[in-house]
Amino acid sequence: MSYPPGPTEAPAVQTARWIARPIAFLEDCRRRFGPNFSVRFIGFTTPTVMLSDPQAIRELYRGNHDLPPGRTFALRPIMGARSILLLEGEEHLARRKLMLPPFHGERMRAYEDTVREVAQDEIERWPLEQTFPLHPSMQAITLEVILRAVFGVTDPHRRARLREMLPRLLNDTASGRLQLRVLVARRLGRSDPLADLRELARAIDDLLFAEIAERRAAADGDGHEDILSQLMAARFEDGSQMADQELRDQLMTLLLAGHETTATALAWTFDLLLRNPAALSRLTAEVDEGGDDYLRAVISESLRLRPVVPLAGRRLVRDLRTDGLELEAGSDVTPAIWLTHTRGDLYPEPYAFRPERFLEQPPTTYGWIPFGGGVRRCLGGAFAELEMRVVLAAILRRRDVQAASRRAERITRRNVTFSPRKGTRVRVRRRAEPAAGPGGVGGAADAAAGPDERRPAERQPVSG
Ligand code: HEM
Repeated sequence: MSYPPGPTEAPAVQTARWIARPIAFLEDCRRRFGPNFSVRFIGFTTPTVMLSDPQAIRELYRGNHDLPPGRTFALRPIMGARSILLLEGEEHLARRKLMLPPFHGERMRAYEDTVREVAQDEIERWPLEQTFPLHPSMQAITLEVILRAVFGVTDPHRRARLREMLPRLLNDTASGRLQLRVLVARRLGRSDPLADLRELARAIDDLLFAEIAERRAAADGDGHEDILSQLMAARFEDGSQMADQELRDQLMTLLLAGHETTATALAWTFDLLLRNPAALSRLTAEVDEGGDDYLRAVISESLRLRPVVPLAGRRLVRDLRTDGLELEAGSDVTPAIWLTHTRGDLYPEPYAFRPERFLEQPPTTYGWIPFGGGVRRCLGGAFAELEMRVVLAAILRRRDVQAASRRAERITRRNVTFSPRKGTRVRVRRRAEPAAGPGGVGGAADAAAGPDERRPAERQPVSG
């Protein structure tokens, strides 16, 4: 096998650098070896090739659907063997076809009111004039949205138990130390460090199976708008339907893939906005008027500068050849999403937060890849962006948000995401009472009250 050059340190050293300061590690590799390079992680027998050249990423995503082993061994114990995120080949494609319609464009509008309601309830719980981290609050919103819009759980007791147990499961799976233990155990053939988590997962499964059984017994799934009901009604091409176990696996997948990611993207968006007062003022004014062009651009720019998932790789099923790069089938290859998004040739002033760039030109398919690409591209991308628009608008209409710290956030990892280490600490003030204003994303507009003084725009790479 031939691989592009990369660091020669021992795999343990490279893994430690990747875990301790991932962005610094990636930037260093780019400086030394160019846009495409190979790194070695412990637990893997072959190098992982990282790409940040859009042409190479295009070739990668166009022809390759198989997964590198990293995704499966960390996620299968929780998501389950039938998870769409982990299946390959025909099995994956069949699920993709069945699961795409509920996540498609217009269908998303059905969830807008739910998201707005959940966000407004959460905002009302915020302390006024006190410092608190925004990230957990965003997690509460995105969890509740999944419980209602995806799982469609209406029984208040069941919803309360899931609301309590799911974050515990997610927090445990997010632990960096646990991930390291999994890697080491795998390497040394030691006992499974995930065993404790399984008990909690079983209790959650019982609740999900009860929900599915009730829905089947009522046989009224067609009238429901939640995604579980749509999955229960859908059929594969051979006329069969998803079995209960598979429905459970897809629900856990949607939860794990959709909850933390969207909450983190929202927390980063606020971190960026609070350090860029001109962008925040412009966005607040637009939201008050009921528009959403700049809002969409803010979200694209935030997902560019702080992509919450750093890697979305494939195992090559056929050789990959582009300018100066030849990779053989069987190689594990991933875009380095943070590096792709900070290429000076694609994004002038790449470290500056400039939503305007996306007003002038929409994101490109292989130069803007926060949701991965090809036939494995994030199923919930449109859902996530809609949720972000509605939550951002609901917050900006109701609260004047200020950063509680002068320092830009550094990165910490939570499961597969890179999130703001301190959780985006803020202080908020109530804005004037909501007035019946223009509609659009986020609902009726509040009377405007401009944001006060904030810090100058950030122009440096994020530390992490
Ligand atoms: C800002 C929020 C989100 C980000 C940044 C994100 C990112 C990603 C990424 C990078 C992938 C891997 C794509 C690839 O391998 O090419 C992915 C896959 C996936 N995501 Fe998301 N995601 C987000 C929100 C959501 C939401 C809200 C849902 C559903 C409720 C969701 C469901 C999925 C599923 C099911 C897959 C697997 C697709 C497949 O393998 O065919 N994601 N996501």
